[in-house]
Amino acid sequence: MKVEFSNEEPVNVATSALVIGCFEDDKDGLFTTCDQALDGCLERLAATKEFSGKVNTSRLIYTLGRMPAERLVLVGLGKKAELDDERLCRAAGNAMQALRGARAASFASALPLAGARANALEMACEGALLGSYSFDQYKTRNKEERFSFDTMTLLLPAGTTVEEAGARVERVQAVWLGVSTARDLVSHPGNVVTPGYLAQTAQALAERQELTCRVLEMDELQKLGMNALLAVGKGSVESPRLIVLEYRGAGAEVAPVALVGKGITFDSGGISIKPGPGMEEMKTDMAGAAAVLGTLEAASTLKLPVNLVGIIPTAENMPGSKAFKPGDVLTSMSGTTIEITNTDAEGRLILCDALHYAVANYKPQVMIDLATLTGACVVALGHEASGMFGNDQGVIEDLKRAGERTGERVWEMPLWEEYGEGMKSEIADLKNAGSRDGGSILAAWFLKQFVGETKWVHLDIAGTAWLDKARPYIPKGASGVGVRLLIEYLRTVH
Ligand code: BES
Ligand code: MN
Ligand code: ZN
Repeated sequence: MKVEFSNEEPVNVATSALVIGCFEDDKDGLFTTCDQALDGCLERLAATKEFSGKVNTSRLIYTLGRMPAERLVLVGLGKKAELDDERLCRAAGNAMQALRGARAASFASALPLAGARANALEMACEGALLGSYSFDQYKTRNKEERFSFDTMTLLLPAGTTVEEAGARVERVQAVWLGVSTARDLVSHPGNVVTPGYLAQTAQALAERQELTCRVLEMDELQKLGMNALLAVGKGSVESPRLIVLEYRGAGAEVAPVALVGKGITFDSGGISIKPGPGMEEMKTDMAGAAAVLGTLEAASTLKLPVNLVGIIPTAENMPGSKAFKPGDVLTSMSGTTIEITNTDAEGRLILCDALHYAVANYKPQVMIDLATLTGACVVALGHEASGMFGNDQGVIEDLKRAGERTGERVWEMPLWEEYGEGMKSEIADLKNAGSRDGGSILAAWFLKQFVGETKWVHLDIAGTAWLDKARPYIPKGASGVGVRLLIEYLRTVH
């Protein structure tokens, strides 16, 4: 969707649809002018409670020649005193769903004027861009009838020039680009997004954005002793890889922030195979990897003044005669031996080698991993927040703040040493799966054994990477979670 700007008064804008924000408890100047132009229609809608400006509501009306805009899309902003960035972003997203329903491909939005807020332009733009997303590359029927957005004209508050607006919106578009990349990668099926595809995507990204990219193939992984990653990949014809992307935005002396993303392109469970129903959702088991790629894309477009290293261990977890088995004992890159008690606990295996690799090769100032790691995390937190575990309260608090600001909430979980009791093995140093109780914590505890003294946070995004129900600015399906959170964190902390 293209974004344009206009300094015109909303009531004078000729467009197929004009979006205006309405408060539940306040009629602003724009509301009143539109209401007058429409002979009191807006007041009548409020009086009959058809539309009264409540959050998460919208209403579309035809202006029938009384205004230059052909249709008016009213979106609820709730109570005036409660308006914040997230609410505005959601309102912009809700407007997109109404516009989609009306097949209004090009429209004007007066949401940048809502509540006279400093950030309203960014939020109106971000919610609209995020809400405009759809993924229909595999639909071949009725192509002509398929709807997609064309141009959004943002109406600017008095005193905002088109040049200034352009620069501000460019920053929003950079983040949107990263989120879309992440959403696309998660939306594609597992027969397309394979470890090789992720590697090619990383390489193409590196060429576009002037990043450096190295893809470690089987022989190098063997030389490095990354046997945990190799074991998970053994059952598949698609060979595992370690993707390493570097972005330089700060001086060479500044230690990088390491971002590590789980890249299981399909998780069948392996020999400990998963039940059939719902298994198709396991194409999303590379959402951590997608978030890392999207974040590197956005960060480098924004030219953030940080050094980043993105590390993606990627494999396909399949059963087969060459697959690793329960009872196998692996020696991970760090030397720690692991008894396999469940081949479906594969994420922690590929991550333990990646985390060790990151610490050993980059001495990162902070390391954050993102992984669709456990079903237990979905049981604990549902789909409203990602689970957060870590060994440094400073980073944890920074991420909480970034989560509140972006709506990509994270919730801190405990990681007491005592949890580790359940992960001790009779035959090796550790086993890869313990009991079901506290499953997401046991997984995080396992990862913690491989980060040494590095400040580290693990985000379990199993419940937030894929949504069965649409949100105002997240259409059903891949959410792209992680990208906005990490960009906000990097932008405000580093
Ligand atoms: N990829 C899954 C976790 C998952 C579940 C992600 C649901 C998204 C939605 C992970 O590899 C897994 O299978 N975890 C097991 C661990 C268990 C065997 C200890 C689980 O959660 O059941
Ligand atoms: Mn699994
Ligand atoms: Zn998995």
